[in-house]
Parts: sequence; C-alpha cells; structure tokens
Amino acid sequence: MPMKAPSFIAASILSCDLARLGEEVRDVVAAGADYIHFDVMDNHYVPNLSFGPAVFRALKPYACKADGSPVAISVHLMVQPVDAMAEAFARAGASLVCFHVDASTDVDRTLQLIRSFGSTAGLVFNPAEPLGTLEWVLDEVDLVLLMGVNPGFAGQAFIESTLRKLEHVRKFIDLSGRSVRLSVDGGVKVKNIRRIADAGADTFVAGSAIFGAPNYKCAIDALRNVLTR
Ligand code: DX5
Ligand code: ZN
Repeated sequence: MPMKAPSFIAASILSCDLARLGEEVRDVVAAGADYIHFDVMDNHYVPNLSFGPAVFRALKPYACKADGSPVAISVHLMVQPVDAMAEAFARAGASLVCFHVDASTDVDRTLQLIRSFGSTAGLVFNPAEPLGTLEWVLDEVDLVLLMGVNPGFAGQAFIESTLRKLEHVRKFIDLSGRSVRLSVDGGVKVKNIRRIADAGADTFVAGSAIFGAPNYKCAIDALRNVLTR
C-alpha cells in the first residue's frame, strides 16, 4: 500500500483584496497557508485577465513566514500559447508551473521546458478534459491538478464528476509508484473537502473559502480540521 501523503492547502489569491495584494499574501501565509496559488489568465484561453510575471516577482518577498523562510508560489497558467509564459515564470523562480493539457501544442515539450529551468511541472485537466495524455507523460509530471470548476473565475460551484476523475488519477498515480501530487482547484470548501480528499486529492486550492472569510486562520484551520478528522 502506498504511504498516505500529507495534505497541503494552497491559497488562491484571485479572491483576495487585489488592491492590497502584498499584504494579503503575507497575511494568508501567517494564517497557515502551505502555498500561494497564483492564477495567470490571458482573456484568450479563459475569459478573464489577471496577473503576469512582473506581479509574481513583486509578490515573492511577501510570501515568507515570520522566521523569514519562503513559502512557494505555485503558478497556474490559464494561457494559450503556453510555452513563453511557462518559461517566463520558470525564469522568475516559480517552484511549480502548471499548465492546461489542452492549451499546449506539445505537452511533452512544455513539461521538458519547465523542468529544464529547475521548476517542477504540473499538468491541469478541465472538468470535461479526458485523462488520456497522462499515461504518456506521467514520468515528467510532479503534480496533476484537476479543475473542480471550469477555469476563469473564483467562487464557482464544485463540479461533482471531479470526484470520479480524482479516483481514476489516484489509482493511476499509485500504480506508477511515483510520488506525484494530486491537487484540486475550484469550488473547494469545508463542506466538500473531506469527499475530495477521500477521492484521492492531497493538495487543495481554495480561493473564496479563505479570502471570503473574516478570519483567514479560522478558514484554513477549518479546512485542515476536516482533513485530519
Ligand atoms: C479558477 C482558478 C481558481 C480559483 C479558485 O479558474 O484557477 O484557482 O481562484 O477559487 P475558488 O476556491 O473560489 O473556487
Ligand atoms: Zn487556479
């Protein structure tokens, strides 16, 4: 039996007070977020527009704990084409760069590109996207991210078929024997995080569940408490 991996909570800053981006990153790290999740939207692959590499660089100093140790900012690219942005964020020092399988013209090439800069690579699947490609590239993937909503906006309702999809990917990862993280992004709340974990996820991206709450520490603790129950 594979060892149960620890769980991580990533705070998606798309839902934060954007006028106070740096402070919000600092506050949510202090509140216990394991990672910052940085959504890059291009108004082409998705119908929304967000942040680019310059904002990522500006935020990095804010993503650190009280003792000065850095907290990783994971980059979730919702852009097409992918490679130029993947390279820009890898060069900017992103420890994890994720991209959508259907946005890349050559998934293997994009994975190699990201890893060539020393970043880890995540492959993202939309709710309606089949998983077939994963079989051929799993050796080069550090994280599989399943969207629990259609990408583009925070605050949407979780799509339940993601649970079945998670179960498939979890089995596939375990069979491979590789330590690939399995993440869910979109619609993660206290009310469903247990079911999402039971279906196989170990890394949970939450935006509105954290930034929509009056107290970020209480919100993160509430998510974590359900997981340890
Ligand atoms: C959606 C983004 C998500 C989003 C999550 O396209 O990739 O990261 O911000 O927000 P919630 O948790 O509110 O669904
Ligand atoms: Zn995201």
